[in-house]
Amino acid sequence: METLVVEHPLVAHKLTALRDARTDSPTFRRLADELVTLLAYEATRHVRVTGVTVETPVAKARGVRLAQPYPLVVPILRAGLGMLDGMTRLLPTAEVGFLGMIRNEETLKAETYATRLPDDLSGRQVYVVDPMLATGGTLAAAIRFLFDRGADDVTALCLLAAPEGIAHMDEAFAGSDRPIRLVTAALDERLNEHGYIVPGLGDAGDRLYG
Ligand code: PRP
Repeated sequence: METLVVEHPLVAHKLTALRDARTDSPTFRRLADELVTLLAYEATRHVRVTGVTVETPVAKARGVRLAQPYPLVVPILRAGLGMLDGMTRLLPTAEVGFLGMIRNEETLKAETYATRLPDDLSGRQVYVVDPMLATGGTLAAAIRFLFDRGADDVTALCLLAAPEGIAHMDEAFAGSDRPIRLVTAALDERLNEHGYIVPGLGDAGDRLYG
């Protein structure tokens, strides 16, 4: 997996406020939304485009537009919903599919409880949004699901990632010929004994939705 940690003072500023336990839920939602737009700018660097020519008031100009089929954005419910608007603001023509997954807090294994995605994802670029990459079990299961439906290019946007999650992803998809990228605002130190990212920001789903 190709990992990009976005280093930018605005990203760091918003992430610091998100981490702060005193940040209330409305502010947390707004900051998460703003942060994902900044990450999305980097995450869409490989979005497929096709060449077009337009007429300016002066002359013809060569340019590009997004290629079809348009990208698919997949928020992982529930916390990923807090990143959806920021993503579709930048990619308004994107289709949206939903994956509901929850991590069992005892076994730390991901369980899927809802799927609403196009059946055929052949040739689709997919952007998975989920605030936290902790053990990596959730993201690995989500990407397996997308690959099974034919997706051939997946970029994950996570506000925070743990080294353990990245190692899990690298092992799970070693030798895969389909590109997988991760764009994140920070790579934190480690997971604690409860599978929480340290220093992290707590439980993103709870902080977004209570
Ligand atoms: C969190 C988070 C990820 C997952 C990460 O969701 O949003 O989906 O845990 O953990 P992992 O990398 O160890 O699999 P959670 O299961 O708390 O569900 P929620 O979004 O409904 O709060």
